[in-house]
Amino acid sequence: MKKVLVVTYSQSGQLNDIVANTLKPLEGEVDIAWEHLKARPEYPFPWKDIHFWDAQPECVEMIPGELEPLKFDTNIDYDLIILGYPIWFLSPPIPLTTFLKSEEAKKVMDGKPVITIIGSRNMWVTAQENIKAMISDNGGKLV
Ligand SMILES: Cc1cc2nc3c(=O)[nH]c(=O)nc-3n(C[C@H](O)[C@H](O)[C@H](O)COP(=O)(O)O)c2cc1C
Repeated sequence: MKKVLVVTYSQSGQLNDIVANTLKPLEGEVDIAWEHLKARPEYPFPWKDIHFWDAQPECVEMIPGELEPLKFDTNIDYDLIILGYPIWFLSPPIPLTTFLKSEEAKKVMDGKPVITIIGSRNMWVTAQENIKAMISDNGGKLV
């Protein structure tokens, strides 16, 4: 069975619902490992103004933060990687940037096809361009 690694970050659960629905036709057809990224500390939801604006500079500058330890097996040779993410400030959310700049991402993504799924309010192009560059830096191939 083909092996698919799904990596998502979702604050409210909306993005995870989108990805879960997208994955439905694959159920039973492929082996899915789903990594739910967790920021350390987690960003509060709903946001207070101060936390919302405090996150903006690092987010836009794509400065990595901290994640809870990743649970997926980095030694598996995945056939496909699916990245699901919301948009923050026209940019990738900090937890996804943190993942994409990690050694683990480089290890599993090198030479692999990558699909992205976005849940946003329709302003996402700049973020996707940045994600494309980070996928490519890791040796992944956006398909
Ligand atoms: C800090 C923050 C910034 C956001 N900036 C954008 C944006 O620039 N463009 C956009 O389309 N949506 C933006 N959104 C909306 C989210 O991308 C959207 O609500 C998404 O569905 C959130 O998914 P989640 O709640 O599962 O994490 C922003 C949301 C947050 C919390």
